Amino acid sequence: MSDQRHVISRKDYKEPDFFVEKVELVFDLEREVTNVKSRLFIHANPARGTGVDDEVFLHGEDMKLVSVSINERRLASGDFTVDQEGLRFTAPREAFIAEIETQISPANNTRLEGLYVSQSAFCTQCEAEGFRRITYFPDRPDVMATFKVTINADKSSCPVLLSNGNLIDSGDLDGGRHFAVWEDPFPKPSYLFALVAGDLACVEDSFKTVSGRDVALRIFVEHGNEDRCDYAMDSLKRSMKWDEDVYGLEYDLDLFNIVAVSDFNMGAMENKSLNVFNAKYILAKPDTATDMDFELIESIVAHEYFHNWSGNRVTCRDWFQLSLKEGLTVFRDQEFSADQRSRPVQRIKDVAQLRARQFPEDGGPLAHPVRPDSYMEINNFYTATVYEKGAELIRMMHTLLGPDGYRKGIDLYFDRHDGQAVTCDDFAKAMEDANDIDFTQLKLWYSQAGTPKLWWEGDYDADAKQYRITLTQKTDPTPGQSDKKPLHMPVSIGLLGADGNDIAAKTVELTEATQEFVFDGVTEKPVVSFNRGFSAPVNVMTDQPDAELVFLMGNDSDAFNRWEAGQKYATRLILSAISNFEENDGNADAALNDVAVAVDAFIGAMQATLLNDGLDKAFRADALVLPGEEFISEQRKPANPDAIHQVRNALRKRIGVALMDDFENTYHQNASNAAFTPDALSAGQRALRATALGYLVASGEARFADLASDQYKASDNMTDQMAALSVLNHLDHPGRADALADFENRFAKDGVVLDKWFALQAMSSRDDTLARVKDLMGHPAFTMRNPNKVRSLIGAFAVGNPRHFHAKDGSGYEFYTDRLIELDDINPQVAARLCAPLGKWAKYDDDRADMMKAALQRILAKEDISRDLYEIASKSAA
Ligand code: ARG
Ligand code: ZN
Repeated sequence: MSDQRHVISRKDYKEPDFFVEKVELVFDLEREVTNVKSRLFIHANPARGTGVDDEVFLHGEDMKLVSVSINERRLASGDFTVDQEGLRFTAPREAFIAEIETQISPANNTRLEGLYVSQSAFCTQCEAEGFRRITYFPDRPDVMATFKVTINADKSSCPVLLSNGNLIDSGDLDGGRHFAVWEDPFPKPSYLFALVAGDLACVEDSFKTVSGRDVALRIFVEHGNEDRCDYAMDSLKRSMKWDEDVYGLEYDLDLFNIVAVSDFNMGAMENKSLNVFNAKYILAKPDTATDMDFELIESIVAHEYFHNWSGNRVTCRDWFQLSLKEGLTVFRDQEFSADQRSRPVQRIKDVAQLRARQFPEDGGPLAHPVRPDSYMEINNFYTATVYEKGAELIRMMHTLLGPDGYRKGIDLYFDRHDGQAVTCDDFAKAMEDANDIDFTQLKLWYSQAGTPKLWWEGDYDADAKQYRITLTQKTDPTPGQSDKKPLHMPVSIGLLGADGNDIAAKTVELTEATQEFVFDGVTEKPVVSFNRGFSAPVNVMTDQPDAELVFLMGNDSDAFNRWEAGQKYATRLILSAISNFEENDGNADAALNDVAVAVDAFIGAMQATLLNDGLDKAFRADALVLPGEEFISEQRKPANPDAIHQVRNALRKRIGVALMDDFENTYHQNASNAAFTPDALSAGQRALRATALGYLVASGEARFADLASDQYKASDNMTDQMAALSVLNHLDHPGRADALADFENRFAKDGVVLDKWFALQAMSSRDDTLARVKDLMGHPAFTMRNPNKVRSLIGAFAVGNPRHFHAKDGSGYEFYTDRLIELDDINPQVAARLCAPLGKWAKYDDDRADMMKAALQRILAKEDISRDLYEIASKSAA
């Protein structure tokens, strides 16, 4: 247990005592026992104090050590020690060569860290600390080495042998085996090492860089999936071009490989020139992938490609600096998507995501700063805070510096630090130096956890034609941080006249706890459009009257705030109806009747949005969607999942009934006979049509359920089929069972697609859902060893089905807790990640809170609990 509780602190960072300049690895690949020989060229860190002990420590876990030699002399067993953490021996005086032989078992590696087997292929995942499961090594990102990798394997089962860099040799060996030698000229940390070997199909293309070099682009997939790589390949080429155009960054090798694997803990991994992807984020064709899948593929392919500079050429000094590469790279991929698609729609999506995932994290027991101060298990810190809030921090720098100033800072950063492992402070310093600006206060966003609250109060002086606005900020305490300082943030504000046009607009810089800003030349009392574009990633606390929100929904020149006004209005309406619901003994209709005037005004504003052909369809689709149940539950304490579910559905029904004709017209006008293309415009049209269908079905008229059922049967693309299925999914209509059966048949052998089928059923609001989920655990395609399956069935139940997960009788919690305990022995990283929903107990009523806390205690009582799960469960229970 003491090992589980070991906390690593940022302030304890020490430079490495020894560096590795060059690594030579030889893999003899076998599923059961793989032999790994490593030659490490080691020298002492010259900056290290003299007279300190000359012990060399190399990380290593769960391996069999066969031998260690130093300068070709084999060490006797008394000359080194091995424990659970690694290998120690005494270093010679001069630079030396260590040779280490280890044995590992890829087939038995269910954690999917290090070298493992996915389907029939060998692959690796080394970030953050997987390399130490392959061989003994100083497995920390500030040790950067060049790698030369020899792979020996059976030729018939592993015709494809890949590692980082360039292929420098290959050939046949005895016994039906063959080999390949790869050399990566760029020094890199061990977390960027990758190896793939298997019988994979390859799709090939090429890209000419801005300086005229031809780069071969290859995507490796399981046989039969060759026709599902086009979109990923196209996204890759567009990413390469975009990085040249917008950041002046060119690719630096002649080869770029992507491999799609079925078993993967996260989304994808940016290993140098050998990106490894969860197959879900590569494989797509119109009849297997939805518009949302295409969008995710585009952004994740871009994200991993962009890491070649923001992550690989310049990497992190230590894992506390993770946001150095992740926050920056998320910001880069968000901007790429904004340029490829619709900028406002992209921003809406990114903010909705931030509010759904990061804000709850920041307000709960797992709150931590963008640059954490401590961790037990670093894999637990690949979080929405490090990624998405980290991206907001970079976005604020971009807003404050403007595009040119930002680019000057970026240029200096890459110039100054190319080939180095650096810190978030180094990044900020480059931004400051290039722009002669002081970011001392802005940098508090790196160190201070919690979502700031922001209030505003306006005052119009007609005589002076002045509008004065006073902003007040406050951040609540978070675990381990009681005192919060005022932050520096850009707040974009627009003032609208009665005609709906802007009278004035500017971005102010808030630095004080309370601060006043003045707008001059304001000729009439304006309506305020506050925090346009979500320029500051905060919770705006000030309420605006219903009429102003309706006005903003119809007129704001900032599309983000048009959407935001609608979300605010809907949230307020739902929250007050929920209070009525609780007073009206659970009658959702009566609850809405109590706020009938506001409901009608809201529906009128929704109608205006729906019918406004001046707005793009993707935007209208987003603007018509009510805030989700999870989001609403964050706004209210205690959250009442039944009330939220029923009131939100009752409001959807009212909208569906009131606007039935308009939705019906929208539905039919947006049908398309053209062949499916995944571009943003066509996707927007499909999204608007799907929204209309959703409301029509919500109206309760049976003919619309038939319409959904017909749509499922008639459409030739997954987007329209899923749109139909996801509304049928909650009904008792015979079309539901037919469609699910058809889906299961068609995709029985297609893991990535069948995951949608598992997830749908886990998210159904039908009463039989939990029983069905339990049954599905026994489905031939389901296995606890595949993270996508676990996330689709079990994760989706907890996150996508608040009503059943939080069932009053505790059945949801009990089922879920059993699964986490079971999963911890298989894959601790995924188990830990899935534990977070149980940590939200403080948001619920006492009965539920007690059951959730008991569930966490049951997890903590598990024998041999992993460090991963222990950290999340213990912090969540506190
Ligand atoms: N660096 C990867 C990405 O953001 C994430 C890999 C994280 N994997 C992990 N097991 N922690 O693209
Ligand atoms: Zn990343």
